[in-house]
Parts: sequence; structure tokens; C-alpha cells
Amino acid sequence: MLATQRLPGPAWEELPKIELLEGWPPAAPLPGVEALVAAAVRIGAEELDLLPDLRLVANYGVGYDTVDVAACRARGIAVTNTPGVLDAAVADLTLALILACRRHLLASDRFVRERRWQRGWAQPELLGRDLAGSTLGLVGRGRIGTKVAQRAEGFGMSVVHHRRSDGLPLDELLQTSDVVSLHLPLTPETHALISRERLALLQSGATLINTARGAIIDENALVDELASGRISAGLDVFADEPRVPERLLGLPNVVLTPHIASATVETRAAMTRVLVENVLAFLSGEPLPNPVDR
Ligand code: 8YV
Repeated sequence: MLATQRLPGPAWEELPKIELLEGWPPAAPLPGVEALVAAAVRIGAEELDLLPDLRLVANYGVGYDTVDVAACRARGIAVTNTPGVLDAAVADLTLALILACRRHLLASDRFVRERRWQRGWAQPELLGRDLAGSTLGLVGRGRIGTKVAQRAEGFGMSVVHHRRSDGLPLDELLQTSDVVSLHLPLTPETHALISRERLALLQSGATLINTARGAIIDENALVDELASGRISAGLDVFADEPRVPERLLGLPNVVLTPHIASATVETRAAMTRVLVENVLAFLSGEPLPNPVDR
């Protein structure tokens, strides 16, 4: 058994002997490896060619867009993910980004550190917007979106959503929400769903939050829109991680985090637990708890 890295939390110790890879992909073919524990690495046909005996890819994360599931299926390789245990942590970071953007948290912090706080209170450039009474538009309302909605309602926001089965049409949601937050997987259908034309539908002063996947937004168009100053954004994910577009780094109206939405001690340990349960089921020939098939 092989892992691209050691995963946090006590459940890791329950795995039988596992070899840690120095880098990904492996430098040479590795016959005899039946199970691969994979965290944030691309697994396509070329990588699978290097692991000719592989039968399981256990993906650390609920999103598995980096794994070519069709190529795995064609070779009889099962794929599992870690759903259900990271919803609260991702929802928490979503609210943190909303608050940071709407209340100019980073600019306020810099303001104090740079010793620019000379008058009593509320510099005009630090005046934010109330969450209460504003509208949050969720694009996708599954497990994570539902947790975001609960939190946002606690802050007095009205929550609307767009998803395949119900809710507002996407363009209407973009035109009418003060804050838009993405909670859907990256698939061929959602790739660049938030296109340049759709970004232009956002209200002036609106905030776009992405804790899902960078490539759901046309990233070049987003950078242009942010550079114009018309909207703000809180971004935890990027189209080509860890590359973050250079132009974003100097913009005051964007809050940037390095894909940390699930990064809490408790949640990462729980994700490891789910992954380990899948690997152990595979090893003992039992049904996999979290198979993904498309
Ligand atoms: C992980 C994630 O950080 O679960 C997901 O889909 O994006 C994150 O929880 C990532 O998958 C690390 O492997």
C-alpha cells in the first residue's frame, strides 16, 4: 500500500504498513501496489500506468475532480472519497470569508498595524456592510451549502439558492444577491460555470466566495472583475493550485486563503478516519463505505 503523504489524526495508525511516496507521480513503475492513499494529487491514465496492480484509490477529500474516475473504472480500480465530515468546517470558513470581505477585516488589521489609527473611530474606507438584511445566494445547496445557510441565517441573512433540481435561475441569483457563495463539485458541467458574462451580472459591491473549486469560475475574468474594483471576493481555491494569479496579490478587495476550508484538527482527523474505514473495508473484501462511480 502506498500514500502520497501521511494524513493527520489517530486513525492513520490503524492502517497496515504503508509506504510514503517521496513525490508524485512515482519516478518509475511500481508493480504490486494495490491501494493508493491520495491527497490533492492528479491521478489520470498516465499515473495509473505506473501502478499496474492498483485496485483502490482512496481520495482524501470529498471532491475528487483530480481523479480520472472513468480511467480508474476502465481498469477495475475503485475510487472512494471522504464525504459528510467536513461540511461544518467548510461552512465556517465560508462565513469567515464573508465576514472578512463585508467588514474589511484585513484592511482594518493592516490599518492598526501600520499605525494609521489616529482618530477616534470608523474611517470611511473601513465602513463595511451589514450581513443582517442582506441576501446570500448559494450556488449548490448540498451538505456544505445547507450548513452555510444555517450559519448565514444565524447572522440574519436571507438565503436563496440555485441548484439543478430547484431554486432561482443562476443568472437571477447572480443579479439579486449581495453575497454569492459556490458549493458544488467541479465537473465538466460546472467548469467555468461562472463565466465572464455571468460575473458581469453581479451587482456592483457584491461579494463572491469560493470554497469549492477554482475552475468553477473563469479565473482570468474574475481577476479582471476584481481589478476593476466593482466586486470583492473571498477565495480559498484557485484554478491551478498552488499557483495564485499574480494580479490578485496586490488587490485590496480580495481575501486569499490557501485551500484551508477543511483544515481543522478535528475535521482533518475525521477525514482520515473515513478514508481509513474505506481502505480497511477494501483490504477485508467488504463493501466500500464511500465509493464514487462517476
Ligand atoms: C481537502 C477538499 O483539503 O474535501 C475536499 O474536497 O478540497 C479539502 O477538504 C483536499 O481534498 C485535500 O486533499
